[in-house]
Amino acid sequence: MENLYPFLAACRREKVAFTPVWLMRQAGRYMKEYRSLREKHSFLELCKTPELATEITLMPVDQIGVDAAIIFADILLPLESMGIGLGFSDGRGPAIHNPVRSEKDVKALRLINPDEDVPFLLEAIRSVRRELEGRVPLIGFSGAPFTLASYLIEGGHSKNFVQTKRVMYQNAEMWRGLMEKLVSVVVRYVKGQIKAGAQAIQIFDTWVGCLGPDDYERFVLPHSQRVFRELGNEVPLIHFGTNSSTLLPLMKQAGGDVIGVDWRIHLGEAWEKIGYEVGIQGNLDPTILFAPPTEIREAVRAILNGARNRSGHIFNLGHGILPETPVDHARLMVDAVHEMSQR
Ligand code: CP3
Repeated sequence: MENLYPFLAACRREKVAFTPVWLMRQAGRYMKEYRSLREKHSFLELCKTPELATEITLMPVDQIGVDAAIIFADILLPLESMGIGLGFSDGRGPAIHNPVRSEKDVKALRLINPDEDVPFLLEAIRSVRRELEGRVPLIGFSGAPFTLASYLIEGGHSKNFVQTKRVMYQNAEMWRGLMEKLVSVVVRYVKGQIKAGAQAIQIFDTWVGCLGPDDYERFVLPHSQRVFRELGNEVPLIHFGTNSSTLLPLMKQAGGDVIGVDWRIHLGEAWEKIGYEVGIQGNLDPTILFAPPTEIREAVRAILNGARNRSGHIFNLGHGILPETPVDHARLMVDAVHEMSQR
């Protein structure tokens, strides 16, 4: 049965009748149904109430016809269970109240136990699987150790990652201790999601592109590699980063059945760099969805031409869909991918 899902088939580089497509942040503020739920509940409340998280996860499947659902949650959720105070302020993104700044802070971080620490997430996964009734597969996800470490150390989003790099360069012991803890947390968190019913996993190393290749190889690769190794091959694993054109061969070495790329590189060139033994996901610039329909269709065609109908391409944006995006344009993009990629 599962082989009938184009998304899972493409993850395994099997032949598909058309290129499957989903969108990062596909369940979110560009949808009016989401915004009206958000008027009544905080973001964390939505994540922690399985009925609401289920309803939101299904919105883009019903409304824009994507080929996979992704569970409504956030990469920062497991940090709360590690003993970190987490808040999301409107418009300014996440804030961590007690950032990690010393070896003592690292020692104090707890390893998580998903059954006890994130039961709402596991329940939401089970409930989405029931509601989907096999229509499309469900993706679970986690942040990668580097991107999670950057939030823990900076206390929120950062432009230059100065605090993070300071720890890396000045306190190798502390860096290693933190990354090793995060590897264990990511592995436990993801295994919990797979057990609950997630059929593929995306590992978001969103901010890793702030590093040069040598630093990636030394400070990140061994840890990300352990995550992929310990997760094994129970379900397909997608390894995503932004600004990562120069890191692609190293990210491939770290692991993943599919590598996610943003729009700063041609898809065809990225795939050549990575090698055709793995799949590729991407890579429409999310701001193209503000352009007129003919431009959107051209941009879709250019990406499909770059992939040349080779098995193993999953169409996506190069990063999350923006809150102001017209829903019609998202739907038009999904339809264009399906239509233009018919084999
Ligand atoms: O893709 C999906 O639809 C699933 C849900 C999902 C969310 N966050 C929901 C969310 C996923 C996969 C994420 C991942 C995530 N979260 C990442 C990695 C991917 C990426 O986009 O870079 C990161 C870095 C985070 C951390 C995070 N969470 C940030 C930086 C923000 C604020 C961003 C913003 O645009 O305000 C969030 C909040 C968040 N996560 C929202 C949603 C729908 C907005 C919450 C709201 O309604 O106010």
